Amino acid sequence: MIKKLAVLISGNGSNLQAIINSIKDGILKGVAEIVIVISSNPNAYGLERAKKAGLKAVALDYNGMPQEQYDEKVYKLIKDSGADLICLAGYLRKVSHKIIEEYKSKILNIHPALLPKYGGKGMYGHHVHEAVVKAKEKKSGATVHLVDDDYDTGYIIMQKEVFLNENESHEDVAKKVLTVEHEIFPQAIKKIVENEQKNNK
Ligand code: GRF
Repeated sequence: MIKKLAVLISGNGSNLQAIINSIKDGILKGVAEIVIVISSNPNAYGLERAKKAGLKAVALDYNGMPQEQYDEKVYKLIKDSGADLICLAGYLRKVSHKIIEEYKSKILNIHPALLPKYGGKGMYGHHVHEAVVKAKEKKSGATVHLVDDDYDTGYIIMQKEVFLNENESHEDVAKKVLTVEHEIFPQAIKKIVENEQKNNK
């Protein structure tokens, strides 16, 4: 049975695009389909990507409404979409406890570092890569993990390393890491789907 994905975004949507491409003619073909894209930011370029791919896309304005109202809208959109899995793809908002409870072990997040290092509140985007460069790390990478009530602390599904040159800029690190993000997010989704199919046999 093809798994239904709800993909949540806040910005460029390059990870969303990687999932779209994997469904179209990659490892997720016949494995998953995106039933809804939800953005916390009405100006997210990821909404353009969703539209171009003919996907249902809903733009919410996180800053334009009270937290409870926003959380309830997100919950209802996901519920009504019939999604089996929720993919946080460059999504910058905290997922409500209600969604985490109802979709336990079914929410995946991509983080641009080798968790548990360089994770936690405020560690997103360039903040992560700046910290990695400042610490003179020899490697970084990307992590796909299950989402729980804290930031970046859930069960790690998959990681991939990138090796860093000395004095590499945080922009260069971001580019290298983003490349492996696009590789492992679809792979992690496939792994979760296959594990579920095995467990349901
Ligand atoms: C990526 O680095 C991702 O790891 C982080 O948000 C960044 C932008 O992702 N969560 P995208 O291009 O919007 O998918």
